[in-house]
Amino acid sequence: MTSELRSAQWYGGDDRDGYIHRAWMRRGLPSDAFSGRPHIAIANTASDLTPCNAHLDEVASSVRDGIHEAGGIPLNLPVVSLGETLLRPTAMLWRNMAAMATEEMLRGNPVDGVVLLGGCDKTIPSLLMAAASVDLPAVVVPGGPMLTGTFRGKPLGCGTDVWRLSEEVRGGTLSREDFIRSESAMIRSRGHCNTMGTASTMGLLAEALGTVLPGVAGTPAPDSRLLESAHATGKLAVDLVRESRTPSTLLTRASFHNAIVALAAIGGSTNAVVHLLAIAGRLGVGLTLDDFDRIGSRVPLLVDLQPAGRFLMDDLHRAGGLLAVLREVRDLLDPAALTVTGRPLVDHLDDARIWDREVIRAREEPLRDDAGIAVLRGNLAPDGAIVKPAAASEHLLRHRGRAVVFDSVEDFHARVDDPGLDVDADSVLVLRGCGPRGYPGMPEVSNMPLPKKLLEQGVRDMVRVCDGRMSGTAYGTVVLHVAPEAAAGGPLALVRTGDVIALDVPGRTLTLDVPDAELAARTPDRATTDRYAAPARGWERLYVDHVTQADTGADLDFLTGATGPAVGRESH
Ligand code: FES
Ligand code: MG
Repeated sequence: MTSELRSAQWYGGDDRDGYIHRAWMRRGLPSDAFSGRPHIAIANTASDLTPCNAHLDEVASSVRDGIHEAGGIPLNLPVVSLGETLLRPTAMLWRNMAAMATEEMLRGNPVDGVVLLGGCDKTIPSLLMAAASVDLPAVVVPGGPMLTGTFRGKPLGCGTDVWRLSEEVRGGTLSREDFIRSESAMIRSRGHCNTMGTASTMGLLAEALGTVLPGVAGTPAPDSRLLESAHATGKLAVDLVRESRTPSTLLTRASFHNAIVALAAIGGSTNAVVHLLAIAGRLGVGLTLDDFDRIGSRVPLLVDLQPAGRFLMDDLHRAGGLLAVLREVRDLLDPAALTVTGRPLVDHLDDARIWDREVIRAREEPLRDDAGIAVLRGNLAPDGAIVKPAAASEHLLRHRGRAVVFDSVEDFHARVDDPGLDVDADSVLVLRGCGPRGYPGMPEVSNMPLPKKLLEQGVRDMVRVCDGRMSGTAYGTVVLHVAPEAAAGGPLALVRTGDVIALDVPGRTLTLDVPDAELAARTPDRATTDRYAAPARGWERLYVDHVTQADTGADLDFLTGATGPAVGRESH
């Protein structure tokens, strides 16, 4: 066994180098720690500046116990952490950096496997991208959602209710004092956002992909059972090493198929599209944007969670969790997809039950049919754009309207509430310069707040079109991820205020009603192009030079694929 372990390439042998590697690591470890026991890193995204992940040190200590119990050696490895609420210009700018740093630290160190601890939006995607590229045995413990907070007797959903309450303040139906008062009620406990936002979505999809111990994702962060599961996951990590169960053997096309079915059935975040595409890109699984429409669009929505619905993650857990949802759509799942347990995902569904049919609907009574993400194409989005019909307004799914164009978020904020702005309820709000390159980092700004004067008239949704992303906790008829983005030469850069845009979600098209010849003769205005990011140095420079477009996951072009766990040359 010793010679088979990757870590033995550091710790085996009685020469000078073996001495150096072992001696500095002893510090109380038992003498047999360096002969045949798997060394398991705990890639830990705990950080006080990622409040959603701040509790992961406690989770890590349960993982440690499990690793010890199974005969492994646990090694805490703090990795880059990305907090959604604080990081500017957007946490997404560093998803690829976090993935790259984690991949490299796992490869460069004497570890045989890894337990991945994530929570807040970008952390699980970055960890899975890293694990896929280094291809060491890996298993995820999702940090879990917060408990439901209440304000004046009503539950508050993280994120979603911030958008809703702030629109009420702007619409004049809620005082600013009451708005601020709700702040401390919303964030009630440790954990990540408790709506079906990106963090909840990616925790659940990590399980649908097979990388989480089945039944664990969605366990609320303060729930004792999360620590029990963390302990069990630590033990499992040691088995994964002994059986060489690596991400590349688990994460196949079948796993992504199941993740896309799950994404639709839970009504998950649109951000999952770029994250799943990026993870697949690391594995060489030929997943495309169109697969989301092909596999997911006819899947029924079964989970009634905010932002599209009523309940919160705590309710989903109590109602039976992801496995109960997946059991309803078992016939749509690929039975070949394996999990970290070594058994197929579908094998884990037999005992799942729905305990609350309001929160998780039975297949016969879906919240809506055809719930998955729709992929749109047309002369405005030659490489695709997406829309989430479940979060959109039925009456806007087929719509024509005059474009009102904004060249940046700042331009938007400066003009949106101007009483003189030529906009009505039928207008299509267009925001550009918000793609991976243009901002940079593809921020969650696409769900533009509606003009104040229209809110006051009672307008609650409008068609919006943007090359950025939308928070998973947001809602509305928002066309996102337009590719290519304006800053990459996409036709979005050529739209002028007053042009007619036609959205046809059932027909899957997004069309700028301008003749081809006229469009070909247009060039983007200086006012537009001057707003694109042009960083001179550092990570941002590297990022804008190498980031791919949303339709391929917005990874860096040189990070797609895998290097595997190759051990580098000796350091001494
Ligand atoms: Fe961290 Fe929502 S801000 S999950
Ligand atoms: Mg977010």
